[in-house]
Amino acid sequence: MCGIVAYLGDKEAYPILINGLRRLEYRGYDSAGVALLQGKDLIIYKCQGKVSDLESHINGRSTTGSVGIGHTRWATHGPPNDVNAHPHQGTSGDLALIHNGIIENYAPIKEELKHRGHTFRSDTDTEVLVHLIDDIQRSEGVDLAEAVRLALASVVGAYAIVVVDRKDPDVMVAARKSSPLVIGIGEGEFFCASDATPIVEHTKNVVYVEDGEIAVIDRRKGLKIRNVKNQEKTPFITELEMHLEALEKGGYDHFMLKEIHEQPRSIRDCLRGRLNPSKGEVMLGGIKDYEQKFVNAKRILIVGCGTSWHAGMVGEYLFEEFARIPVEVEYASEFRYRNPIVNEDDIVIAISQSGETADTLAAIELAKGRGATIIGICNVVGSSIARVTHAGSYTHAGPEIGVASTKAFTAQVTVLTLMALMIGQKKGMLSGSNFYRLLNELDAIPDKVHKVLQKEAQIKYIADIYKDAANALYLGRGYTFPVALEGALKLKEISYIHAEGYPAAEMKHGPIALIDDAMPVFVIATKGASYEKVVSNIQEVKARKGKIIAIVTEGDTVVKGLADHVIEIPETPDALVPLLSVVPMQLISYHIAVMRGCNVDQPRNLAKSVTVE
Ligand code: G6P
Repeated sequence: MCGIVAYLGDKEAYPILINGLRRLEYRGYDSAGVALLQGKDLIIYKCQGKVSDLESHINGRSTTGSVGIGHTRWATHGPPNDVNAHPHQGTSGDLALIHNGIIENYAPIKEELKHRGHTFRSDTDTEVLVHLIDDIQRSEGVDLAEAVRLALASVVGAYAIVVVDRKDPDVMVAARKSSPLVIGIGEGEFFCASDATPIVEHTKNVVYVEDGEIAVIDRRKGLKIRNVKNQEKTPFITELEMHLEALEKGGYDHFMLKEIHEQPRSIRDCLRGRLNPSKGEVMLGGIKDYEQKFVNAKRILIVGCGTSWHAGMVGEYLFEEFARIPVEVEYASEFRYRNPIVNEDDIVIAISQSGETADTLAAIELAKGRGATIIGICNVVGSSIARVTHAGSYTHAGPEIGVASTKAFTAQVTVLTLMALMIGQKKGMLSGSNFYRLLNELDAIPDKVHKVLQKEAQIKYIADIYKDAANALYLGRGYTFPVALEGALKLKEISYIHAEGYPAAEMKHGPIALIDDAMPVFVIATKGASYEKVVSNIQEVKARKGKIIAIVTEGDTVVKGLADHVIEIPETPDALVPLLSVVPMQLISYHIAVMRGCNVDQPRNLAKSVTVE
């Protein structure tokens, strides 16, 4: 979604803004722009396209100035074009504003402002907001910060904004509600951004702006924070743990490939300090105070979106098997709009890589309001979801830049596995020997993922055969049904091939009609509880001439005799198969997308962090 970056200090703002926008590119966008204050002049450059298009557009023009704001837009109101790109200005031309979010009541405000003589150039809700601030500033005779505060009091929706005013070039005002905003504090300089990625190379000291807060950055007076009710707040400075190398491709062609290959390490990082197989211990410090709540829970609700929702589905199988607690998994967007039954004995687990997904945040607020205990599983430290939940466990996967989620998924599933095993053991649902066996198996997963990654050349060969397919079907059963869904999602989001994931047995109730000799069917057919049943499903596909690409347990001969291709993965208990079987799915999708010439890290129309509903 939209990305925001801003600078006020003693350096040239433009290179910092452009570099920051490049760091935010992974979030997904369709146009970009910057505004620079040059003394009392305000210069705006913006255009449709990538940050590189913006750079070409600006090339040779003046870019001096030590105060500036930059934006990447992901269109909501009005198509992606030069006019709708941010920054936007009000009638006076004094202000420039960038915005991430949606102003829901923009239409009546726009009508009112039109009556007051304002004319609008763009289709955006953002332009309405800057006109409103501009109007208030002039009619009330107040400074920028106060005009922003008064304007936001009449606005409904979600926003992270930064505004500058050429009348007062030493001041920058930022505010947030339901959209992320971080302020970096350097030596005599300040940065604002949608996440810490544009900031980390300049300073590690950051302030996460809270909902309803307005930050006033003044070259002379420093940073002051107040809320919309005009109460002053003390900025809480935290230190970033992020490292710059994590934001670079490190020799890989794409972030996605790097992140797929990082999984042995990211899963190990996720387990570190939490899993002690020799002592038979699982320790999740972040939820320690809530263990008893889990043990007594009558029900667990899991909410998330996209890949995080798929991880939640694996969580359902894990908690039901090991802790014997009933689980419901729901898309956050559906949960929030169906008046769900939630009560005080319920545990709600919210899963989110970014920790900023608008629907997941809204689902949390709803469940919290009904008294449930909210546990977060997030990757981004300090993110909104991590802060609004009662407790939680970070996934420690490191920054995930590729839009298609890979290492975040395996880390989420790893945390869920640890949680389910820990609670199962505390409830006495797992025999000692089984518990020890599972802990040892989990401990072996990073090395086994490494072994799966060594199959890449074979997977690439298979990708080449099926790269021109128009459709693909993914089948799994039990623990691997969510993996089938995730495999299909990976393929469609980055290669634009239509793909569907199905429980293997459900194939007979519809998708079988689609099978012919042009249809690749990816089947997870590892040894385990449903093995024979899945073998029968493979027979059914073969009888209709479908092409089978099967993920099997090392040494399998039965499926090898039936399938067109098999990819072997090491043996592991059913509950841990998702962590291994998803890896070939990720690699297949990656290689197919590259072979089709797709932009793997920034697929069309998709955003990494969906901060609007
Ligand atoms: C977007 C991303 C997906 C992600 C989903 C949920 O759609 O493109 O990769 O799974 O949002 O995001 P979250 O940050 O909440 O896990």
